[in-house]
Amino acid sequence: TGSLGPDCHCFMSTKTESWGSRVGLILAMAGNAVGLGNFLRFPVQAVQNGGGAFMIPYLVSFLLMGIPLLWIEWATGRFGGRFGNHSTPFILHELDPKRAIWKYIGVFGIFTNIAVAAYYCYLESWTLSYVWHSIQGTFVGKSAAEVAGFFGDYVGLTDPTEPVLFWLLCLVMNTWILSRGLSGGVEKVAKIGMPLLILFGVFLAYQGITLKAGENGALFDGTLGLNFLWTPDYSTIWTPKVWLAAAGQIFFTLSVGMGSIQCYASYIKRRDDIALNAMSAGWMNEFVEVVLGGSILIPIAIGYLGIDRVVELTQSGGLGLGFKTLPYLFTQWGPTMGMFAGIAWFGLLFFAGITSSLAMGTPVMAFLQDEFGWKRNPSAWAFGAIILVLGAPTVFFFNEGVFDEYDYWAGTVSLVVFTLLEVILFAWVFGMDKGWAEINHGADLRIPRVYRFIIKYVTPVILLGVFLGSLPAIYEKLTLPASPYVVGARYLLLALYLGIAWAVYLAYQKRRKVTIR
Ligand code: ALA
Repeated sequence: TGSLGPDCHCFMSTKTESWGSRVGLILAMAGNAVGLGNFLRFPVQAVQNGGGAFMIPYLVSFLLMGIPLLWIEWATGRFGGRFGNHSTPFILHELDPKRAIWKYIGVFGIFTNIAVAAYYCYLESWTLSYVWHSIQGTFVGKSAAEVAGFFGDYVGLTDPTEPVLFWLLCLVMNTWILSRGLSGGVEKVAKIGMPLLILFGVFLAYQGITLKAGENGALFDGTLGLNFLWTPDYSTIWTPKVWLAAAGQIFFTLSVGMGSIQCYASYIKRRDDIALNAMSAGWMNEFVEVVLGGSILIPIAIGYLGIDRVVELTQSGGLGLGFKTLPYLFTQWGPTMGMFAGIAWFGLLFFAGITSSLAMGTPVMAFLQDEFGWKRNPSAWAFGAIILVLGAPTVFFFNEGVFDEYDYWAGTVSLVVFTLLEVILFAWVFGMDKGWAEINHGADLRIPRVYRFIIKYVTPVILLGVFLGSLPAIYEKLTLPASPYVVGARYLLLALYLGIAWAVYLAYQKRRKVTIR
């Protein structure tokens, strides 16, 4: 156990949060991972990067970075939780109490959650609104251009009433569920949402795979899109861009490098398994992503539009296909089937989204509860208020690029930086002997020993490669002229990071005072 100095912080936590059951924990963790990334981001990344050419780097990234990082984050979370720490600043600090720097690196684990949630909740609110429009039959009888135009008007805030109302509704729902606690809120939503999501996903995947050329206006069989994705293409396998995209997708989809896994894991009891649990949640995410996520958008869109047109459509960003194209294609299946497909697609997206955004709220709440003694309710509403303020620019300046800017810095760059630093901390500073023992403690699974070697050498080296490989693009982004909105968004994110670092500093001073007293 830790010492009872300022470096053991078991005293502030108002605590008593815990998971209700093992199934609930796994579903919540899977819900954390399974998100909009699985159904919207993955297919687009795969199409943009050559289909079959993308899948090899993707699977390699999963095995050599994704799985090790899952074990590291579950292990460090449970370890930090033993000492009453539930957010990354002080979880990382617990791994190396001698150096002050880790607390400030741990700031990433709160920063990323807030910044991603700020745009993610807006995206989530579109799915809710589109469920409503699918029930209403809004897209029936509209041309492809009209359905796409509907989306353009929506995000362009031609009439802001509806987008803003759905966004607020979404924020209130997230906040309210968070205020019910882990077992009473988050876990319950995961237990309902995940099975429904899989049900909807299986229905849509069946529709996608069995799509027949010549029926309901489809030009090609659904298998054309599946073959595009699953036929290995070695021609571009050494292209750094494809590897960076694949690694980025693995981080985003598994939610590693965000700080939410550590937070969820910090509520696991010391003697409980993490090795098998982490694998169950991780593989469930991969099943949902590659099997279900890969069998809906791509086969349906390619079946109607052909490969070239779909590749062209994804060049202008990813969201188009899911919101502009798919609702139109569903109408080709007739009014009833079209309505069911729309409800299933956007309902699935909504459940995927909310179980992830809830996970983004918990580290923020945990930090306020652990360090400043806040109760659950005010911490949840504080998170809601922060997301309201930081999310507003993504809503009102969506077309000015603010949404994408948040996604770039928080949803892409931060994940790489944070995972690189945490693997170094875990394998090299905390040390692989202690680290390996921590992962295996209470394990219901025999982890192949080769993973000890992978975690110590392979994962850090590849992560370093990914980080160095991203530098030219980051440099280019920072040196190219940018609009005042985009520059403003960058300063806002920087201020957010510094603000959290300041709160961490105050929290540490507070801990010291309590100890001295
Ligand atoms: N892991 C979450 C997703 O895939 C954030 O959307």
